[in-house]
Amino acid sequence: MTPPAATASPALLEVDNLRTYFATDAGDAKAVDGVSFSIGAGKTLAVVGESGCGKTVTALSILQLIPQPPGRFVTGTIRFDGRDLLRLPKHELRAIRGGSIAMIFQEPGTSLNPVFTVGRQIAEAIRLHRKLPASQVRDEVLRCLKAVQVSDPERRIDQYPHEMSGGMKQRVMIAMALSCNPKLLIADEPTTAVDVTIQARILDLLRDIQADRGMAILLITHDLGVVAELADEVVVMYAGKVIERATAEELFANPRHPYTLGLFASLPRVDQKQGRLQAIEGSVPAATRFPEGCRFRERCRWAGAECQQEPPLVALGKVGLGQEHQVACWKHAEIAAANAAIVA
Ligand SMILES: Nc1ncnc2c1ncn2[C@@H]1O[C@H](COP(=O)(O)OP(=O)(O)OP(=O)(O)O)[C@@H](O)[C@H]1O
Ligand code: SF4
Ligand SMILES: [Mg+2]
Repeated sequence: MTPPAATASPALLEVDNLRTYFATDAGDAKAVDGVSFSIGAGKTLAVVGESGCGKTVTALSILQLIPQPPGRFVTGTIRFDGRDLLRLPKHELRAIRGGSIAMIFQEPGTSLNPVFTVGRQIAEAIRLHRKLPASQVRDEVLRCLKAVQVSDPERRIDQYPHEMSGGMKQRVMIAMALSCNPKLLIADEPTTAVDVTIQARILDLLRDIQADRGMAILLITHDLGVVAELADEVVVMYAGKVIERATAEELFANPRHPYTLGLFASLPRVDQKQGRLQAIEGSVPAATRFPEGCRFRERCRWAGAECQQEPPLVALGKVGLGQEHQVACWKHAEIAAANAAIVA
């Protein structure tokens, strides 16, 4: 049975038991394998995990941007604003995509077309989703560019993507995503392509726009610093599954899963060049060859005989700040006691 949602506010998006598999020569790649979470209106949920854990496939599943075949939805429901996106007619889904749900893609090149000016691309998004008189579209594009603090928008509006820096392109992508006033913004690694100073500005911008518009954000990141800055709640994914889930404050104060502890241990120090999460020995197993039982067990120093059975995601009850905290590890109590002893 799926554990109850960790969020207290009414859910805008509810993903329940989602399984997205890909047929490959080596068998099914179980990229997303029974994932559940929810996001309240105006809240930010961060999905974290190492490369290959299933974060992007989760995001693309919400908008049904998974190529079928080789992909397929094996189980699950994705309820947005009361409707199941997996069972929605194509035309209704098209209206939602880029309209009430917008996405900033992980690959900056995916969103911007090199042969059109950025102004034309944002205008196209507005024309598709909003009923604005043609004479007002250009002004609206300028307003969007100003909202994301693009400098000199009157000049930028007629530029092509290749005439812009990485940070500026990132802003344009955010402007395009926000141009239709989405209720939910899915941001897949929104700051990996830009340097640290620009990253901080883009995060500030997202926070301001969210406060202004009450938009919910599904933030996908490998960077726990970004999580600390923006997230209300966190879902930690490993090998296609949710292995821990809590409010950001609770998770930072009281991480329980050995994998989450490993992610915290791998936080980059300020004197080191920022890189992908990597302090945990070994790597995520291929999605076609997940081990039986706990999928983390080949990398886990706590692993024991019971870990040959798959641990369920269980609620720890009201912990810490009085919020639900869920973890999928047979030894979470033992690990918590050991950590408490170290801290004491
Ligand atoms: N079209 C596909 N065919 C087969 N396997 C796929 C396909 N797309 C994704 N996968 C597999 O699904 C798993 C999850 O991929 P996903 O892109 O969601 O990872 P991620 O968590 O977003 O990683 P990263 O941090 O590198 O972006 C990976 O093992 C990947 O190889
Ligand atoms: S269930 Fe076992 S192998 Fe998996 S994380 Fe917990 S202790 Fe480690
Ligand atoms: Mg990804």
